[in-house]
Amino acid sequence: MSDIDQYLTESASRFEDELCELLRIPSVSADGKFKADVRRAGEWVAAQFRQLGFATQLCETAGHPIVFAESPQVPGAPTVLVYGHYDVQPPDPLQEWISPPFEPTRRNGNLYARGATDDKGQMLTHIKSAEAWVKTRGKLPVNLKYLIEGEEEVGSDNLYKFIDSHKTQLAADVAVISDTSQFGPGQPAITYGLKGIAYYELHLTGPKQDLHSGTFGGAVTNPANTLAKLLAAIADADGRVQLPGFYDQVVPLSADERQQFAALPFDEQEFMAQVGVAGVTGEAGYSTLERKWARPTFDINGLTSGYQGEGAKTVLPAKASAKFSFRLVPNQDPAQVSASLEKFLRERLPPGITLELVDMHGAPGVVIPLTSPYVAAAAEAVEQGFGRAPVFIREGGSIPVVTAFREKLGIDTLLLGWGLNDDNMHSPNEKFSLADFHRGIKSSAHLWDTLSRVQAAKA
Ligand code: BES
Ligand code: ZN
Repeated sequence: MSDIDQYLTESASRFEDELCELLRIPSVSADGKFKADVRRAGEWVAAQFRQLGFATQLCETAGHPIVFAESPQVPGAPTVLVYGHYDVQPPDPLQEWISPPFEPTRRNGNLYARGATDDKGQMLTHIKSAEAWVKTRGKLPVNLKYLIEGEEEVGSDNLYKFIDSHKTQLAADVAVISDTSQFGPGQPAITYGLKGIAYYELHLTGPKQDLHSGTFGGAVTNPANTLAKLLAAIADADGRVQLPGFYDQVVPLSADERQQFAALPFDEQEFMAQVGVAGVTGEAGYSTLERKWARPTFDINGLTSGYQGEGAKTVLPAKASAKFSFRLVPNQDPAQVSASLEKFLRERLPPGITLELVDMHGAPGVVIPLTSPYVAAAAEAVEQGFGRAPVFIREGGSIPVVTAFREKLGIDTLLLGWGLNDDNMHSPNEKFSLADFHRGIKSSAHLWDTLSRVQAAKA
């Protein structure tokens, strides 16, 4: 593969410039203001595939478009479905960015921009690796199908419909996603478990308008006070969720898996320093890695009520609302969580307050078996790219399409993360290490080779 490795070396700075081009497009899927920019990012991705001579479609949906592309047929070779997303999280809070979120900036070997690691930079590695094959060898050793969506950060509703109606077109032997992280700098990982999610918005309404808190306080129930009490009741001081039945289906961690987690070189002090906290908490009886990767959690994601401006204002607000979510582990059912949650909240609702609970999106957790020959092939490719064998980990984030691939297409996913835990995904100053970008491209280029040999072994 020296010709391909050489192509990658020679193209390194152009690849970075191309990533910067994509990062300059503010493709924030959650905010309608950016609708045209989201489409522009989809078109940019589609143009990449067209340049490689791949059959490419920008598929319209009820929301943002999906890019589907296919490399020319290689008869007898396995088919790999590569998934990625070109949409990004909102960049807020803007004032915390050292350089503006949509002006990609190189600092200390990193590229800073919203979407750098999640997922534009990681996704692009699988396009540039294909380019290297096409430009040096004239063709790929495997059949590649790319499914790159623009709604991952808002729940992927239209993607599932697309998968349902394009099962034949999407048929593949295995899927590949790079939208996760390494275990640590220079220690690559293959992720075999992800959490699910159940996300809600809660709206509480009290009096017909804001009131003077002196005149009316103590008699009229305050929606903000109620919101605080309701949310506080959902989990105890250790974070253990109090909804009836919440833990009923949770698969306990096996002794083996606990041992494997414990054997990983996780440094709790370093972890605390990385996030800037003096201590960590969580469900009793579980290690930090176990809590992060394999135990369900509850987190408030946003709170809105009352006066937020400068100075003091003695107001009893008419409304209060919150966004919050549960991270789920395999076998927990988001629909069951919704039912239990709604009942739990209504039972505790004081007089004078009305409640609306909006079910935003839900997806189950997933664990992928490590026994397939594709996993071994991926491990070999990652070792080529990073110069070090990957460790096998679980992660706390969610990529619901992994479950959809299993259920709708019958295939497992190789989760090959090139990011780092301190890449500030979903936070200010998101970054991607340029070295990891290039190691990712190299791993991916080797992956097409190692995966092509899996089928040769099977045949
Ligand atoms: N790249 C993340 C998923 C991820 C994060 C995996 C951290 C492993 C570790 C992805 O883009 C993401 O943020 N997904 C959402 C999914 C949700 C909107 C359904 C998430 O996890 O919040
Ligand atoms: Zn992502």
